[in-house]
Amino acid sequence: MKRQLIKHVLEREDFGATVRIAGWVRTRRDSKGGFSFLELNDGSSLVGLQVIAEGSLPNYESEVQQLHIGAAVSATGALVESPGAGQRVELRAAELVVYGLADPEYYPLQKKRISFERLRELAHLRPRTNTFGAVARVRNALAASTHRFFQDRDFLYLHTPIITGSDAEGAGEMFRVTTLDPASPPRTDEGQVDYAQDFFGQPTFLTVSGQLEAESYASALSNVYTFGPTFRSENSNTRRHLAEFWMIEPEMAFADNQDNADLAEDYLRYLFRQLLDNNSRDLEFFNQWVDQGLIERLSSVADRDFERITYGEAVDLLRRAESEFEFPVNWGSDLQSEHERYLTETVFGRPVIVTDYPFDIKAFYMRRNDDGKTVAALDVLVPGVGEIIGGSQREERLDVLVDSLERKGLDAAGYWWYTDLRRFGSVPHAGFGLGFERLVQFATGMQNIRDVIAFPRTPNNAEF
Ligand code: 4AD
Ligand code: MG
Repeated sequence: MKRQLIKHVLEREDFGATVRIAGWVRTRRDSKGGFSFLELNDGSSLVGLQVIAEGSLPNYESEVQQLHIGAAVSATGALVESPGAGQRVELRAAELVVYGLADPEYYPLQKKRISFERLRELAHLRPRTNTFGAVARVRNALAASTHRFFQDRDFLYLHTPIITGSDAEGAGEMFRVTTLDPASPPRTDEGQVDYAQDFFGQPTFLTVSGQLEAESYASALSNVYTFGPTFRSENSNTRRHLAEFWMIEPEMAFADNQDNADLAEDYLRYLFRQLLDNNSRDLEFFNQWVDQGLIERLSSVADRDFERITYGEAVDLLRRAESEFEFPVNWGSDLQSEHERYLTETVFGRPVIVTDYPFDIKAFYMRRNDDGKTVAALDVLVPGVGEIIGGSQREERLDVLVDSLERKGLDAAGYWWYTDLRRFGSVPHAGFGLGFERLVQFATGMQNIRDVIAFPRTPNNAEF
């Protein structure tokens, strides 16, 4: 008989029908009457299904009585109305198949609460907990909504390369990809490592962003987006940095930074509206156990306009509150996480889109404003997380772009194909990158970014 997911069985009302479910035991309680209650969870929903295993089952003593938390079983039997509070249906097992036992002496996920820190060391088992199951479902829902949002708006999904020779941010935070032997690499006459003999015949790295390639396709297909893994070797041990994270990067041709801000706001509000409508059970769980203001915050973000200010205005606001900060604020300095959070949490109490940052602290590709000092950049800041989106209108003027590259100390020749896009049919265009894990953090209230990706990669940690 075909197995059904518990989330679908929980919705059924055709009592008496025979169904088969399968999952992992969360609890076993033996009743005095010589039968047992098993709660099974298969990950399809936060709540599991209660199974009644009668003492008359042929394997009741030999197997059912050996079941503990973590064991894998399937149960087939009649769907019955549940007399218990908090559940509508349960399954009266006529057959119970045991696939894999879990020895309670060794299985680490027992009933008592385990810290998130400890669970990171058990990343292969933590999806079996309520919290990590819920994170995985919310993450999946946000990914599906992302595709729906962009597909509905005729954005084309583009797969950009993971291995690249281009530093898309010009910040030098790239992991090298090589097949050379680190103990004895080939050398040039000058004694440098000879990357001409490397696999690709040139230095290559893991990408920090698909943006430059997305600009190429936007310059032909109008609106595109990427959704892929990106890598940064910045040595940041914070609760919002990963060395490997996922990014969504839309890029629009014939668009300016205003269009960009509108898209960012529409997109985020759409995501939270969808989540509130379709994932309420998981959100209630986070709201109860992880972050008590979560649902109210998500609702208010979905319902109200974002604030929009310039970097200059942000600096003025921060200087008036200067005493509150560890890092001083001056026009020209980058906003620290504490500043971002002060703006979005304390000043406005809603997401803030900050635009027009100084040229000197932003990437080479951002379009220069007429004031000569700032660029048409945009960051979206949200409560609890800070920067969730970074983007800009792109410099479409060849001479200005080459000048920006040079001023940033980058080799314009190395970006030949990127500058080519400004030589042939150049158009105003704009885009942004949404850090997917920061989005999941905001959507769940989870404090540490290591707990919203399955197997986090951070400095000194690439286990699993
Ligand atoms: O602001 P960033 O560096 O912008 C870019 O990469 C642009 N190429 C995007 C674009 O315009 N197409 O990164 C974008 C977002 C940040 O706002 C943040 O949410 C996330 O990516 N991010 C990180 N998330 C986790 N760990 C890290 N180390 C991150 N670095 C950036
Ligand atoms: Mg940024």
